[in-house]
Amino acid sequence: MKVGLLDLQAQYAAIGPEIEAQVRRVLASGHYIMGEDVAALEREMAADANLPHAIAVSSGTDALLAALWALGIGPGDEVVTTAMSFFATAGAVARLGATPVFADIDPVTFNLSPASALARVTKRTKAIIPVHLFGRMADLAGLAPAKLPIIEDAAQAVGAPGLGEIGALVTLSFFPSKNLGAAGDAGMVLTRDAELADRTRLYRTHGSRPKYTHHVVGANLRMDTLQAAILRVKRPYLAGWNAKRRANALAYHELLAGTPLVLPHDEPGHVWHHFVVRAPRRDELRAFLREREIETEVYYPLPLHLQPCFPGGKDGDLPESERAAREVLALPVHPDLSPAQLEWVGTSVREFYARGGST
Ligand SMILES: Cc1ncc(COP(=O)(O)O)c(C=O)c1O
Repeated sequence: MKVGLLDLQAQYAAIGPEIEAQVRRVLASGHYIMGEDVAALEREMAADANLPHAIAVSSGTDALLAALWALGIGPGDEVVTTAMSFFATAGAVARLGATPVFADIDPVTFNLSPASALARVTKRTKAIIPVHLFGRMADLAGLAPAKLPIIEDAAQAVGAPGLGEIGALVTLSFFPSKNLGAAGDAGMVLTRDAELADRTRLYRTHGSRPKYTHHVVGANLRMDTLQAAILRVKRPYLAGWNAKRRANALAYHELLAGTPLVLPHDEPGHVWHHFVVRAPRRDELRAFLREREIETEVYYPLPLHLQPCFPGGKDGDLPESERAAREVLALPVHPDLSPAQLEWVGTSVREFYARGGST
């Protein structure tokens, strides 16, 4: 039985007619960039998050760029962040000429360790970027002693409650595989702060206000109208999809009990973007599951401090991030999984360890 990490065709089959009606409307309108659909999506997402400001942008990466720009971060500045994330978290910092400084993770949550982050704060540190990795809220309260602005990278935690309560800015990704996915690239910045919202908007359109008068050098970070219209169709389904993800995660807790896998804990607010276990003999398990057409992924095989584009990091610097890279495996948890598919993943994992032992 095939079990994919995603099933966007199944999602489309369920809501295709609603989406097509909106796509046709936008195409017929002749207006393809920003506009009322984008403004409405901003209002709706802000209301859902219980925050006053939402700024739609062209991707999660661009949301990070805009948030960093809004905070005035640039050459000479340092930004402390986790070594265990998708590249964009650190890439955006470096892209603006600032230096990403990598801290280690908490081995239980895989999220940025506040103690490790605080130990890396210097006079040059201008912000901290924790990531709500795999949909689980990072420990933001633990970062308070730094008294620095926090950008919450919530690319993987769209729909989680409490975003932006502590962070100065929150960045979301609507990459198609995310909990709320566009039909292409899209992202968003959320904030409580009117001034930061204003600066984010300015950077989104080449720093221009009004058109053709440029106050700062930003970029084209605008959201397409079509993506906003599609996201507006999907948004009301998000809470249900996230509940389904959680139900799948809880099902795995039963199906995988007694295996040598270390399972991720359920926690209030966890939106289960990924279900990531630690697995003995991870690569063999992955190959075994692949043979049974069960798709898995390693998020992420090389920690950020060891990426070739960030010289200076070496093996042993951040031992928990490095150990996680060797041990983690994401099992399918998307909302369109059937009970039979979940069962098949559970049975297959149990068979793998029953055959080969667990060490
Ligand atoms: C943690 C994290 N940050 C940033 C991004 C960047 O988002 P995007 O792909 O929309 O640019 C992603 C996802 O791809 C992500 O998982």
